[in-house]
Amino acid sequence: MNDAVSAAERAAQLRQQLEYHNHRYYVLDEPEIPDSEYDRLYRELQDIERAFPQLVDPSSPTQRVGGAPLAEFDEVEHALPMLSLDNALSGEALVDFDRRVRERLARDGDVVYAAEPKLDGLAISLRYEDGVLVQAATRGDGTRGENVTQNVRTIGAVPLRLLGSGWPSVLEVRGEIFMPRAGFESLNARQREAGEKTFANPRNAAAGSLRQLDPKITASRPLSMFCYGLGLVEGGQMAATHGENMAVLRDWGLPVSPELRVLQGLAACNGYFDDIGRRRDRLAYDIDGVVFKVDSIADQQSLGFVARAPRWAIARKFPAQEELTLVEAIEFQVGRTGAVTPVARLQPVFVGGVTVSNATLHNMDEIERKDIRVGDTVIVRRAGDVIPEVVRALTDRRPADAQQVALPSQCPVCGSDVVRPAGEAVARCSGGLFCAAQRREAIKHFASRKAMDIEGLGDKLIDQLVERGMVDDPSALFGLQADALAGLERMGPKSADNLVAALAAARKTTLPRFLFALGILGIGETMAENVARTLRSLDAVMALRLVDLVEIKPSQAGKLVDALAALGRPELRTEQLTAVEGLKWFTSVHALMLAERFKTVGEVVEAGPAAVANSPRLKIDGVGDVLAGKLVTFFRQSHNREVIARLLDSGVTWPPMAQPEAHARSPLTGKTVVITGTLSRPRDDFKRQLTELGAKVTGSVSNKTDYVLAGAEAGSKLARAQALGVEVIDEQRLQALIDGSG
Ligand code: IVH
Repeated sequence: MNDAVSAAERAAQLRQQLEYHNHRYYVLDEPEIPDSEYDRLYRELQDIERAFPQLVDPSSPTQRVGGAPLAEFDEVEHALPMLSLDNALSGEALVDFDRRVRERLARDGDVVYAAEPKLDGLAISLRYEDGVLVQAATRGDGTRGENVTQNVRTIGAVPLRLLGSGWPSVLEVRGEIFMPRAGFESLNARQREAGEKTFANPRNAAAGSLRQLDPKITASRPLSMFCYGLGLVEGGQMAATHGENMAVLRDWGLPVSPELRVLQGLAACNGYFDDIGRRRDRLAYDIDGVVFKVDSIADQQSLGFVARAPRWAIARKFPAQEELTLVEAIEFQVGRTGAVTPVARLQPVFVGGVTVSNATLHNMDEIERKDIRVGDTVIVRRAGDVIPEVVRALTDRRPADAQQVALPSQCPVCGSDVVRPAGEAVARCSGGLFCAAQRREAIKHFASRKAMDIEGLGDKLIDQLVERGMVDDPSALFGLQADALAGLERMGPKSADNLVAALAAARKTTLPRFLFALGILGIGETMAENVARTLRSLDAVMALRLVDLVEIKPSQAGKLVDALAALGRPELRTEQLTAVEGLKWFTSVHALMLAERFKTVGEVVEAGPAAVANSPRLKIDGVGDVLAGKLVTFFRQSHNREVIARLLDSGVTWPPMAQPEAHARSPLTGKTVVITGTLSRPRDDFKRQLTELGAKVTGSVSNKTDYVLAGAEAGSKLARAQALGVEVIDEQRLQALIDGSG
């Protein structure tokens, strides 16, 4: 008896502690103790409840994991109906709403509104009796819903007992159950791995997870909740405004949106709507608009209801980010690198605030995985500034004559073969600069700011130049004459002269820019910089061989020779090897490297391991075997060498690269610098200058950072530098360091 009494006391204590920490973790997102400590308390409670089963009650934290599966959900009648909301689809509709409210309330001045995001999940009604959760019901038809209490108990954000005191004896709380985006992504990844069906969006995932008959499944799903209103309240008083009521719920441990604001008048409401709209993609969960509610409960009561919606609240919707439309065709586009990308031509549809008529399908693997066909009804998504994409097809609406598409074997632009290397998702046109699409994109890249930086040569102009056959490779740009240019659309004699002058100026460049401008697959700005710094001349780059860069260790060489001997095909040409049985490390790059020294497999075997082993004489930062292959192959191709020769003929030059010795003398050699804030010149200029002096420029401040170069309005990086005690310098101080007078 005594044992049971003290056990009951300890159990009550543990439950209170667990509830407190649960609230800190799920609702406040501010855990106070490590998970291991929570687990220890939890296990202690479990042990007590196992020893004294009479102490178990449904609101114990141990009961969240979910009991036995149900055969079906019971029906629940709502004490007060669960209403829906009218929508305002435009700014004017909100103006009308505000006017109607002011008229009905006979109010001259501003009305005070409470505003909160409209969550995209499903409505729930929680019933607390004397502070204990006794029932959770879905909205259903508004009058009757389903009893999902067992499932809702498993949601960490929902308190099983209210914190604090002073709750009404009966308190119904209404809110939205939803699945945060990160949880949705990981759930889908899990489903995919297990070969189970994936969910189309977080809303469906939340609904599917809540309506599980087996609460253990719900318990495994990352659901959350925000409360946004009250239902029946008996045996107690609530506050006079919505805002205050929500603050009270928050004090009792219920989750309330941190975005809730109380606003004065329509203008403030519009400001709130715009602000949330801008931050929409950065919230952790999907929202589809903002709900505005008259804040005063007395005013709410005098406004009342029409049909199933209150006159005191309205939902101002964002443009939908997903819409249905038809795939009219699937076409293939060719990019700068020759990548052949399938694009869906869609029946135009308004989504994410713009009319969309094309959406990317990424690549053939994606089309096959999503099984998208011409004629399908599809979900198109456009979120924020991202390129619209086809999410999936509604297969139940697929017409009998829907067409599957195949990767074209010929480039739709130039007719060259399309090749798709085994194991790669991307197919490419093999036409190189023979292909007009690649030519056009290659020229755009060549002229772009970080490449040759030809001012005034925009995309539209390049399209015209290529279409009219005036330019068919980058070198032809430098031969353009003002009178020919002046004949183009939107070009006068003045702008033609300017362009000719810009072309002349762009001829003076740097080796890294020139290498980047060539558009070599995989060679971005940084790689071009690294290559130029290591090799220091174009001649050296063009003379590069794979033996200079790719290693074959003596141990690998032995195994390679054995494996090639076992092949028994001495006449096979070395460059034709794509793989060698049993040697995982061997790739086509190694085959190309062998081909630099041995014509046939027979020659390799005869030469033996010592001759096959290779220790490369160079190491270029960031350039591994794959990039080495791309680099060397590019400069071996005769049409690329011809373009380069023509560029040099037309006067493209650059100053010699700084000698490595120069670095050794710079006080900035080996230093790590972060650039932040607004400076007198573009950041890229500073970056280049610092890199040339042997410094490393990185993006984030850590205790490895030597200097933070801070301009006007520097923000968090400056603050972090100060916190870490990293030296902060301005432009003047930088110059002093460079001059060696610092
Ligand atoms: S208030 C009487 N506030 O939207 C007012 N609803 O379209 C009832 N919803 O069924 C709702 N976020 O599921 C309100 N902050 C919010 C909301 C919200 C999402 C949902 C709710 C309701 C539906 C109406």
